[in-house]
Formats: sequence, C-alpha cells, structure tokens
Amino acid sequence: MQISVVGGGYVGLVSAVCLAELGHIVRLIEIDQKKVDLINHGIPPIFELGLEEILKKNIGSGLIALSGYEEMENADCIVICVGTPPDKEGAADLSYIKSAAQSIGKAVKDIDKYQVITVKSTVPPGTTETLVKPIVMQNSGRTNDTLGFCMNPEFLREGRAIDDFMHPDRIVIGGDCDEAVRIFRKIYENLNAPLLSCSLKAAEMIKYASNAFLATKISFSNEIGNLCKKMGIDVYDVMKGVGYDHRINPYFLNAGLGFGGSCFPKDVSALVKLAEKYGEKPVLLKSVLSINDKQPARIVSLLEERIGSLKSKHIAVLGLAFKDNTDDVRDSRAIPVIEKLLKKGANVVAYDPMANETMKKVFPCIKYCEKPGAALSGADACLVLTEWPQFSDLNDEFRLMKNRVIIEGRRILSADVTEGVCW
Ligand code: UGA
Repeated sequence: MQISVVGGGYVGLVSAVCLAELGHIVRLIEIDQKKVDLINHGIPPIFELGLEEILKKNIGSGLIALSGYEEMENADCIVICVGTPPDKEGAADLSYIKSAAQSIGKAVKDIDKYQVITVKSTVPPGTTETLVKPIVMQNSGRTNDTLGFCMNPEFLREGRAIDDFMHPDRIVIGGDCDEAVRIFRKIYENLNAPLLSCSLKAAEMIKYASNAFLATKISFSNEIGNLCKKMGIDVYDVMKGVGYDHRINPYFLNAGLGFGGSCFPKDVSALVKLAEKYGEKPVLLKSVLSINDKQPARIVSLLEERIGSLKSKHIAVLGLAFKDNTDDVRDSRAIPVIEKLLKKGANVVAYDPMANETMKKVFPCIKYCEKPGAALSGADACLVLTEWPQFSDLNDEFRLMKNRVIIEGRRILSADVTEGVCW
C-alpha cells in the first residue's frame, strides 16, 4: 500500500520505518528539513534500538522523507503522528493536530481516489471525529464517500519500539465507516495480532486507559513498597507473589522511583483534565499522579537519614534517562531527584550510558562522567536512578567510594550492601 506518514518524531519515524519494512511504499512528511536530510541519509534523529538498521535498509527503496505534503495523490492512507504535548494545565495541546489536518486537507483537494486519514497520535476521545475530520473535510472540499477516517493508537515503548511494532499485543482500529477500517487494516495484514475494531472515540480512549492502567500498577506497587519498607518486607518478593496471579500478571509491578517519560505523566494528567471537564472527580488517577510525584523526595530523605546533611557531599548519580535503552530524559525521575540534591547543597556527579548529553541541557552545571567508576570515585553516597542492565555488573567500582552508601531507585544492582527507595 502507499502510505503517507505525517510527523517524523518518535512514533512517526518508527511507524514509517516499520511500515516500509512490512513492504509498503512510505512517504514520511516532516517539516524540519534537518531531520528530513538526516533520515534520507539513513541517520535516525533519535536513538532507538534497531532503528538505524531498518532505516538504512529501507530508505531510498520503500521509504523516503519529504519536507512538504507531496505526492499525496498516490496515498491510500495518510497517518497523522504529530505530537500532543501537555498544555499549561496538563491537558493535551492539539495545535499540531489541527495544523496537520489543515495541511492534509489542502493537499488532498481535487484527488478522486478513496483515501483513509488515520490519527495515530494520542488524542482525547472525540478529537478525530470532531476536530480532525471537519478540518480535513473543510480544507479539501471533498465528500464523505471519498474520504474515510480511522483512529489507530500506538502502544510502542521507547527502547523496544521496533519489536513492539512488529509484534503487537493487539491492533486497535477505530473507524467512522466500515470501508475506512477495511482499507486501513490491510496495512497490518502481515502482523499476527488480535484486531479490535471499534468507534473512533473508543480507540482514542483505549490508549489513555491503557497508559493510565499501567501507571496505576506502578503507583500501586510503590504504595505497597513504601509500606513494606517501613515493615522490613521485600516488596519485590511481594509483587512476585502477587504477579503470579494470571488475573494480575507480573508486568509493571516494579516498585521504585515511579514512572517518567513522555507518555505516562502526560497521558494520566490529560485524562484527569478530561474527566474534570465532564464533571467527574478522578480520585484514583489523581492519587496515581500524587504517589508518583512524591517518590523522588523519598530517596533524598532516605539518603539524609543515612549520611546526614547533604551540604558539600559528593553524591554519585548513576542513571539519568527515564528508563534504560534510551537517551530520553523527558520527565525522568532523575530530574526531581537532582533538583532536590542541588537544593540541599550536594555536589552531584552523574553518569549515564547514553543520556549525559541530553541531561546537560537540563542541568548544565553538574559534573558528568564517561565511566561509572569516575562518578563513584570519592563519593559519599550513590543513588541509582535508571534500570540500565549494565549496572548489574557494577561491583569493584563501588570500592572507589569514600563511604559505601548505595541507594537504588530501580532494583538493578547485584552488588551487596544496597537498599532501595522502597525495599
Ligand atoms: C509507555 C507504554 O508502556 C507504551 O505502551 C506506550 O505506547 C507509550 O508509553 C506511549 O504512550 O507512547 P514508555 O513511556 O516508552 O511506554 O516506557 P515504559 O516502559 O512504559 O516505562 C515508563 C516509565 O515507567 C519508566 O520511567 C519506567 O522506569 C517506569 N516503570 C515501568 C516502573 O517504574 N515500573 C515498572 O514496573 C515499569
């Protein structure tokens, strides 16, 4: 099939590359010319495991990046993947969606082929039906019988996005008519996954509800973990026992510093705003956010309990990315932790396998090291804030510390004499 993907950010680029890998002809439309040039040279502007390899394989054959809405007459499907960042109140900012819909509308004017416009961005329920569709229809001047609309949420995890795209747990397609869904589902013909076809609004809500549920599992584990810590119980044993129940499952029960990244905090707070807009009091979702907001302060208080005042103390921080396998620090739990350490006068010396450069933009003044040993050398204490698998190999490096006080925000170390924020 011929597919135009609008937006070359995280979701757009991964989707475009994977759709080309599935054998489709894909045009990736991205307004940033620098990104377009990089992509056309086979260089991904973001780091994602395995992305460079399949980008290089497909670019110039099944895939091309364009800076304008070109060759739209060939597209069977046009997939909107632009960002929906939070606005000042925490609701989803739909300005990129609006302008993409406008540009698509103008670009598909005078085309008589049946085309499907699909929203893949995470958008509040109702957006495809009441915002995207009218804007496209108005700007294109076309009629319902030549344009169909779908909503197809993505469930990619950063660091595992290619694998998640190629082996999804499910494919959700909301549609405004059977014909649109019939055509759009063909793009996933070669993937083996259950397909749920539903209304546009239900598809939009499935994405929010999925992320909110996963975030709830994490905050739940953290609340249990905080109690377990006080009672001398290992929360990891507890959650292992809980997770064996097939009705619960073992995933996303890892207690620690809480969730970060560009999705969970943003999507849960957008859902809270949405519920309030409809006169609901989303007490559970608010608690999920509140537990999450408080976890970083706990690790700093625990550190003070162990070593006293933090003033002028050398604190080694291992891990800056919001999770392993990425250089992304958006809403990383390391940010509030480092802020608190600096406020208390500590000297923060940091190490991350990939995210030193990205974190320098947030904290230009702390010291960054190329090796964990360099950050640990002479340290009064160490905080581990990201679940990088390679941290489990650290052992001798801890001997370089002045005091062996090690507190984990993620359970990843195998070295002795460590404790965790809630274990
Ligand atoms: C999340 C969802 O997992 C994806 O399904 C979804 O598509 C994506 O958001 C999105 O909306 O685009 P992502 O934010 O990339 O993916 O990362 P996750 O692996 O879900 O981790 C999020 C945060 O939760 C990380 O900070 C991680 O350390 C934390 N986490 C995860 C825990 O604290 N405990 C756990 O048990 C699992």
